[in-house]
Amino acid sequence: MKGILICGGTGSRLKPLTEITNKSLLPVYDKPLIHYPLETLLKAGIREIAVVTGSEHLDQIAAYLGSGSKFDCKFAFKVQEHPGGIAEALGLAEEFAAGESVCAILGDNVFFDDLTTVIKGFKSGAHVFLKSVDDPERFGVAELQDNRVLSIEEKPKKPRSNFAITGCYLYDNRCFECIRTMHPSARGELEITDVSKWYLGKGELAATILEHEWIDAGTFESLFEAATLVRNRRKK
Ligand code: DAU
Repeated sequence: MKGILICGGTGSRLKPLTEITNKSLLPVYDKPLIHYPLETLLKAGIREIAVVTGSEHLDQIAAYLGSGSKFDCKFAFKVQEHPGGIAEALGLAEEFAAGESVCAILGDNVFFDDLTTVIKGFKSGAHVFLKSVDDPERFGVAELQDNRVLSIEEKPKKPRSNFAITGCYLYDNRCFECIRTMHPSARGELEITDVSKWYLGKGELAATILEHEWIDAGTFESLFEAATLVRNRRKK
């Protein structure tokens, strides 16, 4: 399985912090944000990782990550010229994936669960990780029945559940086939939720509910909260 670390986008909700700096290099207590999703991949034994970022931040990200030798892995860098959506960013890693399945993770997501067992046990289809939240309308949302996914929607005005779809996606290599046929959503992006929906339509979307905290650190409040949680854990 290959890892895809998705770090493009404009970080508009964090301006002016992201005026010069890529969101994933902002500090979360004692490390840059990117370190946390990277750690999720490394812990699961993934050693070949493509990092997707915008051209304006490629130099910073490459300077921080380097070849991968300091993390005991190998990085490839892919440039997304315009932020055309998370699925578009993933699609840029098709050649890199070379027929293998992928663990795609968003560069602003911090997981406090250990996802290793699910990642290592993944065989085919798609697998997402869900977290019950108070503000599901900010996220992709999954409706569940008996732990099976019934429906998923991107940022619904009236969410059918409180289960946010977090930013770690396990897909077999057919995800690239799906992305190649996709069209932009109303907001002009290739939506990652539509990739998961494609698998759901085939009855091949599985889900795990997270037990511990999960943060999408894309706002001032959530970035601050991520730092506080990390700090509290370090002090234990
Ligand atoms: O964090 C989980 C949520 O992430 C999911 O619940 C949503 O379904 C999913 O769409 C996404 O929503 P966000 O509104 O948080 O996405 P955002 O635009 O903040 O992008 C998330 C990461 O992906 C961020 O680190 C930047 C990167 N990105 C984003 C876009 C739009 C790219 O690399 N390229 C892009 O074109």
